[in-house]
Parts: sequence; structure tokens; C-alpha cells
Amino acid sequence: MTDRSRVRCKAVADKVMPAEEAAAFIAPGDNVGMSGFTGAGYPKAVPAALVRRITHATERGDRFAVSVWTGASTAPELDGALAAVDGIDLRMPYQSDPVSRAKINAGLLDYLDLHLSHVAQMVWEGFFGHLDVALVEVAGITADGALIPSSSVGNNKTWIDMADRVILEVNSWQPIELEGMHDIYYGTELPPHRKPIQILEPSDRIGVPYLHCPPEKIVAVVPTHSPDRNTPFKQDDGDSQLIAGHVVDFLTHEVRRGRLPPTLLPLQSGVGNIANAVLAGLDGGPFRPLTAYTEVIQDGMLQLLRSGTLSFVSATAFSLSEDGIADLRANIADYRDQIILRPQEISNHPEVIRRLGCLAMNGMIEADIYGNVNSTHIMGSSIQNGIGGSGDFARNAYVAMFLTPSIADNGAISCIVPMVTHVDHTEHDVHVIVTEQGLADLRGLAPRRRAQQIIDHCAHPDYRPALQDYLDRATASGSGKHTPHLLDEALSWHVRYLQAGTMRPV
Ligand code: COA
Repeated sequence: MTDRSRVRCKAVADKVMPAEEAAAFIAPGDNVGMSGFTGAGYPKAVPAALVRRITHATERGDRFAVSVWTGASTAPELDGALAAVDGIDLRMPYQSDPVSRAKINAGLLDYLDLHLSHVAQMVWEGFFGHLDVALVEVAGITADGALIPSSSVGNNKTWIDMADRVILEVNSWQPIELEGMHDIYYGTELPPHRKPIQILEPSDRIGVPYLHCPPEKIVAVVPTHSPDRNTPFKQDDGDSQLIAGHVVDFLTHEVRRGRLPPTLLPLQSGVGNIANAVLAGLDGGPFRPLTAYTEVIQDGMLQLLRSGTLSFVSATAFSLSEDGIADLRANIADYRDQIILRPQEISNHPEVIRRLGCLAMNGMIEADIYGNVNSTHIMGSSIQNGIGGSGDFARNAYVAMFLTPSIADNGAISCIVPMVTHVDHTEHDVHVIVTEQGLADLRGLAPRRRAQQIIDHCAHPDYRPALQDYLDRATASGSGKHTPHLLDEALSWHVRYLQAGTMRPV
């Protein structure tokens, strides 16, 4: 049930209207900056109304499409629904929706896959053109017109600052106790006016709890009462547990060697089963109290906060399962003092990540024997999701770890290959690779030694002999001995998969 009491500001009371009317403020060809990050805090009603307008326009024979800019991924009722009616011209900076993915890979939708920390500054610089509309979900509007952010912050500050027209969805489903949890920093500038970002601990506050918007820019206020997308977990196949075990053993070793303090360093963890398993592996362990300076808060982080293993989390969004959402809502009064949500140019800020010395753990699609990592492309040409924040963190982390099962597609694919078909993270930015088979610590190793570590510790036994054979023949060949490759074979594993359905020798 929608709740108008969340709109406490008299100056915008006459802007309250249904989603259909609000959607009329969006014109064909507009650039629309929408809230939303990993299925949290995205607008729920106006995109659906926009889809209906687009469908009617299409029935009349008119083309109606907009460019959609967000924080990161949203939900099927936004990304999927708009893509399904061919309502998106250009999408940026991250998506993970199957319908959008299919349209992008069919060449029907332009997609800009960007480092998430770069988006705001590229918009300020004007690379994507003018922002016509900001469509942002908030949890409420205070009596003096301040906007209480919702379950994600993402790029909302930038969208509201830069857009001509602002449409607000005020979602009464979002707990009002979110008020005060956010830290919106209004001090970011472009060079040469940049100042240091004064975050010395994940718990440091440098901004204000509210988003600000001049009331005259607000053209519509739409009360809603709709849940965020929840992210169910896949059935755990055991690989995640094994990967988590290797990571925990590695961290234990690093503490023993004196390279990490007993409370480790702030954790950054990507989303998904493996990340949750690593967090579970740290729960109740010897390292406490931990902190996290990360992008998203998923179930595993809430569990660590509850158990006291984790004392504080800084992020830009939640990404929770149904159980995680229930837990957050039930215990939000406790979590409030342990969580800060920030704009994504701050949650993912290279300066802060480097200063804090984050321990970055992200998934990948494949790695090659020299440690180059592909996080985004299937067989070189098809996008899966996008680089997201993995580059922001890996490039600046104290330890950059990449995690994956060693095989995919029931063993027809080796995730360790002679050469990756697309590079998101170069060998220079990748410190540690982990699969269920083991962990390769690449720090301090020259290329051929890195290759041996990865083959011995990370490759699946079914593919290890072929990788060793490749390395041996490349080393013995006339190719350079620094990073030996057989160029006519380097991508043959992928070609074989595309032609024969398996990377195994046939
Ligand atoms: N070659 C081809 N396909 C592969 C593959 C490989 N080496 N490895 C995995 N795949 C396929 C899987 O079969 C699966 O296909 P399906 O969707 O048809 O089932 C798909 O890729 C996803 O694999 P999955 O094992 O489910 O991966 P995941 O959910 O753990 O996600 C990434 C892995 C890399 C896609 C994901 O971590 C990602 O998008 N990373 C980039 C962004 C990021 O790191 N964000 C966090 C930063 S804060």
C-alpha cells in the first residue's frame, strides 16, 4: 500500500501524481539517469509506465527509446522490461539482465561497460551528452525537502545534480530507518580542483545523510510500495566452499608471515555464491573485528555483522536474498550504526581503496596461464555482465584476488586457458588466482613461474597436462622466452569449444 506520509515537504506536495503521468515527462531520445545498484533502490513504477508508453508508440508505428544510465544492475521489471520492448538506445555502466544481454549481443542495444568509479566524472565531463531526466527512488522527503536515499546510492547525486527534470519515486516499502545511514559527499571536483578524499577508516563520514535537489527541478513525485529485487543463491555445489577454504588458508598464512595484521585489512567482496562462501569461512574465525570497504552488502556481510566478526561495512548498495532482506528489516536499528552507504564514486574511489589497502575478492570468467583475467566476455565477443567495480578495486587493492571454479559448462570449458580472449585485469593487477583446485600466489613471480603456479595449483586435472604441454612447447619454440606463446594455438581452445562444443582435445 502506498504511503503519502513519506512526502513531508509541502513544496513538492502538488507534484504527487501516478506513475503514468510522471512517465509523460520522459520523451523519446532522452538520456535518463535512473537509480539502482545490484537490484536495490531502482525505480519500480515509472519504468513500467514507460514500457507501456513505448509499447503504445510502437503500435502506432513510432519509435520510442531512451538511453538508460544507472548505478549498476537493476531488475527484470526495469532493464528486462525496457529491453524487451526495444526501449533502450544505449545502456551504461553495468547490467546483468538476460534480456538486455541478448539484445546487446545481437547488436540491437549499445552498451558502455565502464569502471563504476569513472561514471560520475565522465558525466560531469559531458561524454554521454546532456542528462534530461533523473528518475530516482528515495525512502522519503523530509519536511525541509531533503531526500532520504533508499537501499542504494549509486550515481543518484550526479543524476539529480545534472538532470533538467527530476522524477522521484518515494517507496514506503523501504525502511524509514535507512534515514541517517547514508553519507553523501558533495565535495568531488574535476582536476585541477580535486582535494583528498578524507576517508581514513571505512567508518569515516565525510558528507551528509541526504541528497539535495532544488524543489523547482522536481517535476513528479510518485509514491510506491514495492520490494527490491532479491537475489536468490544457487545451490552450492561445493566448489564455493573449497575456494573459500583456500582464501581463508591464504589469509591465515599472510597474517602468520606478518604481511597482514590479525584484523586483516578492509575486505572488498564481489557478489554471488563464492563471495558469500568466503565471508562464511571468515565467520567466527580468528580474524576479528574485521571491516569492509566494498561495493555491495550481501547476506554474508550481515551475518558477519551479527556475529561480531565484522564491526563495520562501507558500501554503495545492498544486494540481498529474501532472507537477507527480512534480516535487514528486522534488525535495522542494530545495523544502522555499522553500515554506511556512499555514492559509488566514493565507495569505489581508487585513492581510498589504495590508502585503506583493501583485500579485493572478485569472480572472473577465465584467467590465462600468465595471470591476465577476463571478467566480462564469453568466447571473446559476447558480454556477460560488465567489469563493474572489479577494476576499481583490483587495480588499487593491497591484494587483488580473482576466484572461479576451474571448469565451466560441465567440464567442456577450462577457466584456465593459454590466452584469455578478452582482458579486463592485466597480469600487473592480478595478485592471486583461486579455484576449487587451489590458490596461486603470483606476487613476485616472473611470467613463466606464474604460469607454472597457475597450472599446478588452479587448473583442473583434466586440463593440466594440455596446459603444461602448451607452456613447454611455447618455451621450447622460437617465440620470446619472457612470456612464451604459440600464437597459432593460443586461442585454439576457444575455437575448439565454438566448433566442437568442448575445449578438450578431440
Ligand atoms: N568461458 C565461458 N563461459 C563461462 C566461463 C568460461 N571460462 N566461466 C563461466 N562461464 C559461464 C557460465 O557457464 C555461466 O553461464 P550461464 O549463465 O549460461 O549458466 C556464466 O558464465 C556465469 O558463470 P557463473 O559461474 O554463474 O558465474 P558467477 O555468477 O560467479 O559470475 C562473473 C562470474 C565473472 C560473470 C561475475 O563475477 C561478474 O560479472 N564479474 C564482473 C563484475 C564484478 O566483478 N563485480 C564485482 C565488483 S565489486
